Amino acid sequence: MRHLLFLNNTMLNKLSLVLAALNIILGSFSICSAGNDPQANSNIPAIAKYFGTKGRYEEANPHLLDDILYVNKSNVEPPSSDCKAVHITAILRHGTRFPSKKYIKYMKNIYSLVLTKANGSESWLRDLQTQWNMWYNEEMDGRIAQKGRDDLSHLAVRLATSFPTLLSEENLRNNHFQIITSSKHRCVDSIKAFEEGLANLWKNEDLEFNHGENDELMRFFDQCRRFIQNVANNSTALTEMDLFRSKPEMRRVQEKVADRLQVPYSNITTDLVEAAFLLCAYDFAIKTENSPWCRLFDEEDAQVLEYLNDLKQFWKRGYGHDINRKSSCSLFHDLFNRLDRVANASRFGQVTEAVTIQMGHAETLLPLLTLLGFFKDELPLNSSNYASQRDRMFRTSRIIPYAANLVLVLYDCTEGLRLQALLNEKPLYFPNVSHPAPLYHTVKQGYQELLQGCSFKKECELPTSER
Ligand SMILES: *[C@@H]1O[C@H](CO)[C@@H](O)[C@H](O)[C@H]1NC(C)=O
Ligand SMILES: *[C@@H]1O[C@H](CO)[C@@H](O)[C@H](O)[C@H]1NC(C)=O
Ligand SMILES: *[C@@H]1O[C@H](CO)[C@@H](O)[C@H](O)[C@H]1NC(C)=O
Ligand SMILES: *[C@@H]1O[C@H](CO)[C@@H](O)[C@H](O)[C@H]1NC(C)=O
Ligand SMILES: *[C@@H]1O[C@H](CO)[C@@H](O)[C@H](O)[C@H]1NC(C)=O
Ligand SMILES: *[C@@H]1O[C@H](CO)[C@@H](O)[C@H](O)[C@H]1NC(C)=O
Ligand SMILES: *[C@@H]1O[C@H](CO)[C@@H](O)[C@H](O)[C@H]1NC(C)=O
Ligand SMILES: *[C@@H]1O[C@H](CO)[C@@H](O)[C@H](O)[C@H]1NC(C)=O
Repeated sequence: MRHLLFLNNTMLNKLSLVLAALNIILGSFSICSAGNDPQANSNIPAIAKYFGTKGRYEEANPHLLDDILYVNKSNVEPPSSDCKAVHITAILRHGTRFPSKKYIKYMKNIYSLVLTKANGSESWLRDLQTQWNMWYNEEMDGRIAQKGRDDLSHLAVRLATSFPTLLSEENLRNNHFQIITSSKHRCVDSIKAFEEGLANLWKNEDLEFNHGENDELMRFFDQCRRFIQNVANNSTALTEMDLFRSKPEMRRVQEKVADRLQVPYSNITTDLVEAAFLLCAYDFAIKTENSPWCRLFDEEDAQVLEYLNDLKQFWKRGYGHDINRKSSCSLFHDLFNRLDRVANASRFGQVTEAVTIQMGHAETLLPLLTLLGFFKDELPLNSSNYASQRDRMFRTSRIIPYAANLVLVLYDCTEGLRLQALLNEKPLYFPNVSHPAPLYHTVKQGYQELLQGCSFKKECELPTSER
């Protein structure tokens, strides 16, 4: 026994020496591979979570990076075991898309400046000048990317996994599905990808989905005359964003970008800075590449540019102007009218509207979320409060990335109907309500004023004299 023990100890000692040596070798390996360059090893730019409306869905839901079909069961459980899901409405944003014409022009400008003027010996700059190609062109104008189709087909599978009794083949066959989309090609392509996702999940290619286009509902912002006159077509409506462009925070970003390129400060306008940031964002969103453009920005720069984007959305689609939210009155009533119909039908046990899928834009979702009172900070975002708004709730990177989705699920429970809201597959609490799935009646009480008013016609029509 003693002998054996002795041997064992010796062996253990030797083993631990070997292990220690191995550790040193492995350790030096990992030091080598990390290099001096923390970004060089990752597909994901360090600034990826600041891309605002150009952000990837995975940044808002990082667990999807390990498993794109992962569903967090605790987020989609019924409020209690006696509850039965009777209806789901999902309002979606289209998937990852190519940039629009306007931005492609600025992208070409910063690229040509980098080619002709930039100086410096960093490898990322050489990559930009010799390896990177200007692969964006004006024909791409806002179209869906393959990544955007994948966004929606994966989302379809996750939603069907989350709510299998609602998003079911049987409900589709029985015409208990309603699918509506904006007529924009990126939305139509997104809804087709969503349908394909379900067809693949159900291993059935002969299903008929029958989606209809409805711009009155999904592109209400194009039809609200007051919104067009007061905001969309009003050069002073976004003054706070314009002012922020000349604030020290933005100027500092411009100077840092100019320094990194070794060009005169006067050559780097805010438009060019934004274009370079977009090049990083689009290379990543579309191709999952950590582009050399990303090296022009550190985290602080990215936060400043995120704020610039949030200022735009806040004043153009959010709380900045009251008409922004009111322009979504028709979508609001469409939702609650349907929930009311389902509530009534469920009393008779004959719900036919089990599933409503609506495909739109960031410009569709943000006004509605704002109308519903979500993500409202105490003070408005403006050009001079970047620092005090650091912890703001209105942060589009988290609210409205590509494939963003607002999901409302109505449950029939012993104590009455309950309504659960999810944004990007995470619980969303109704303003001033502490229950994750309050009684439907309670939700309606909170929105009483809107339910009784909020007329699209009244809010959006202009007096004859102003037309
Ligand atoms: C799942 O959701 C719960 C509740 O929202 C949360 O606490 C938890 O961190 C989530 N888990 C993962 C892996 O995301
Ligand atoms: C780039 O830097 C090198 C060395 O500092 C210098 O000789 C050269 O003139 C610079 N080129 C431009 C275009 O500024
Ligand atoms: C344009 O916006 C400014 C600032 O919000 C506002 O004062 C002005 O009335 C608007 N103009 C029109 C024509 O709506
Ligand atoms: C916005 O204003 C421009 C002129 O500044 C005009 O050409 C355009 O038709 C207007 N758009 C709408 C929707 O009124
Ligand atoms: C860069 O700035 C210089 C003046 O500092 C100007 O002469 C030149 O035209 C600018 N070049 C570009 C590409 O903007
Ligand atoms: C409520 O549902 C019943 C049964 O489906 C139907 O007959 C009735 O018209 C509905 N009432 C309202 C107000 O929708
Ligand atoms: C929530 O409650 C606060 C304080 O009572 C009130 O000012 C605010 O308007 C409420 N928000 C909504 C959306 O009802
Ligand atoms: C911006 O907001 C701050 C509060 O966060 C306020 O003190 C300041 O007056 C506002 N500036 C403008 C120009 O409205």
